[in-house]
Amino acid sequence: MSQQNKQVVLNERPARGPITDTTFRTQQGEIRQPGEGEVLVKVEYVSIDPTMRGWVDDVRSYLPPVQIGAVMRAGALGRVVKSNYENLKEGDLVQHIFGWQEYWTGPGKDIQKRVTPEGGRDIDHMGLYGLTGMTAYVGLFEIGQLKDGDHVVISGAAGAVGQIATQIAVAHPKCTVTAIAGSQEKLDYLKKLGAHNVLNYKDSDFKKKFKAVGHIDVYFDNVGGEILDLALAQLNPYARIIACGAISAYNAEKPAPIYNYFSLISMKSTMRGFIVMDHANKFAEGSKYLAGLVKEGKMKADYHVTYGLDSCVGTLRDMFEGKNFGKTLVSLKDQKEEEKSKL
Ligand SMILES: NC(=O)c1ccc[n+]([C@@H]2O[C@H](COP(=O)([O-])OP(=O)(O)OC[C@H]3O[C@@H](n4cnc5c(N)ncnc54)[C@H](OP(=O)(O)O)[C@@H]3O)[C@@H](O)[C@H]2O)c1
Repeated sequence: MSQQNKQVVLNERPARGPITDTTFRTQQGEIRQPGEGEVLVKVEYVSIDPTMRGWVDDVRSYLPPVQIGAVMRAGALGRVVKSNYENLKEGDLVQHIFGWQEYWTGPGKDIQKRVTPEGGRDIDHMGLYGLTGMTAYVGLFEIGQLKDGDHVVISGAAGAVGQIATQIAVAHPKCTVTAIAGSQEKLDYLKKLGAHNVLNYKDSDFKKKFKAVGHIDVYFDNVGGEILDLALAQLNPYARIIACGAISAYNAEKPAPIYNYFSLISMKSTMRGFIVMDHANKFAEGSKYLAGLVKEGKMKADYHVTYGLDSCVGTLRDMFEGKNFGKTLVSLKDQKEEEKSKL
């Protein structure tokens, strides 16, 4: 075992706008040996999420800001290498907010043991059966109250949450699905996932094309901004807007103005925000539902994986430029070994 623990820590708070070369720095920390009731975990995958941009700002939010000098917060998957906690043993696969670092030491009771079913992939604990899949499931069913025959519009549709939400909606009886993303390659991918209409929000005639898909029953909003404003203007009565994310605003100097909010009144509609972690009571049900779709051949999960802690910052930046398909992760495993195991 290497005696050092490589970590990516918050170096300084960025000004409004994208993170910069000096927002984070890498350091070598000590590997702390586990005490009574603690475990030492070797991290295998760390998550890259749009919400990380907000976590490094000193603002009131659903989690406290990451402190300067602290390891960057991140959901992660790893294996126990030493355990002084009775319910976990060496080799167990575990999930927690281990952060952007190679090793984590802490109370065994705080972390979750995960078991990969025969023929399954460990990586799905970070995507399909992790917070990503649960966000799509909770978003559509709890917040969006998805019904048979709904016209469902999904923005950020080729991303982590979007790809799963798109496939849930496609599989739902008699729904029509309009998927929005930022490149022709992504539209082709969304067509393959079964979306009935695919729209590129960067096209010069996007507004016209969006209008042409008709009125909306459920809008799964991953991006906010102008697309949200256009969606508001074409709601059906009793429509539901799932306020999941607003990535268009995370790096912006000023969020784009919303002009059409009064459609919520005239169309007797709702717009509801949510944070997936508050809906943990639905995760077992959600995992079962998604596994059922996989079995029926109606669900597949794609991952955008880069390698090594040094790639975390660049991968986070790339995500804001739409370079990912599906769930973005950084693998801390040996790339050659991992590629060999897939052959
Ligand atoms: N509420 C919750 O509990 C919860 C949980 C997880 C995620 N979220 C939110 O859900 C959204 C999606 O998260 P994710 O993890 O699935 O990320 P993701 O969709 O995998 O990645 C972000 C995608 O956003 C698109 N994008 C970037 N800038 C954009 C802009 N200005 N306008 C429109 N699209 C833009 C890019 O795709 P294109 O190529 O299509 O532009 C990029 O691939 C985020 O807003 C995130 O904060 C919320």
